[in-house]
Amino acid sequence: MEFNRQKLEAALETGQESRYLPFSLHIFESVPSTNQTLWELLNQGATPGTVVIATQQTAGRGQWGRQWISPAGGIYLSVAIAPKIDAIDSYQLTLATAWGISFQLRQCGVSVGIKWPNDLVLNDRKLGGILTETKINKGKITQAVIGVGINWANPVPETGINLESWQTSQHSKPISCLEMLTSTVLLGIESGVQCLFQEGISILLSRYLDLLTNIGDQVYFNNLLGTVVGVNSQGNLKVNLQTDDTKTLITPEIYIEPGTISLGYHKSSV
Ligand code: BTN
Repeated sequence: MEFNRQKLEAALETGQESRYLPFSLHIFESVPSTNQTLWELLNQGATPGTVVIATQQTAGRGQWGRQWISPAGGIYLSVAIAPKIDAIDSYQLTLATAWGISFQLRQCGVSVGIKWPNDLVLNDRKLGGILTETKINKGKITQAVIGVGINWANPVPETGINLESWQTSQHSKPISCLEMLTSTVLLGIESGVQCLFQEGISILLSRYLDLLTNIGDQVYFNNLLGTVVGVNSQGNLKVNLQTDDTKTLITPEIYIEPGTISLGYHKSSV
């Protein structure tokens, strides 16, 4: 699938007088990982706003050290930012990106939600994911790479969905091409980061929670049953533990770190 740079640049310019992130596009046919290529460019002096886009990846990286299978037809991109935040808050970049991309896709008519912590979901299936990597010095983030993979026309596993097949099932095509989807994703990353740094984590978090599909889900953690009630500013899942009348819990709520449990894709599978 050919990627058209002019089409993408035109889509990015629509209705925007100035950029919060000054995007500088680097487009490749194939790289091991757009995150890795972007780190190499940053080491050679690339600045915040640098973007790496690839038609396919041969060693795509997923969350928790997993592989991200990346055949042609999907979107694989990474954006560099230089956030001035504490390392302990690094997950805020992922929350911001998840919200921003979902927000922009919803503006186009694609009813995307967020599955904690970093999955973009459509019809309870995974449409895409986010992998944020950071460089830290003295407890502060000095550089960050936000990587996003979205299923456009590529084959997906049973728990996945691609946007083209969803649009066909809806008999509508709000996202007309790969370049439009790419610009929507880039604008989404920009909206999320801008919201976080200009409006703050409380506002960002309330917007993220509005799109979170897991509120009210029942989860088991360490043999305790609880109900998902929120996410805190470090990205931890807030769960209210259930008890019967005979038991009193010392800690009625717990916070579960990203990567500790998986919530599953179908409500019925909880
Ligand atoms: C996840 O596991 O859900 C996150 C997947 C993130 C994949 C994207 S594809 C573009 C960027 N480059 C990578 O190597 N990974 C991210």
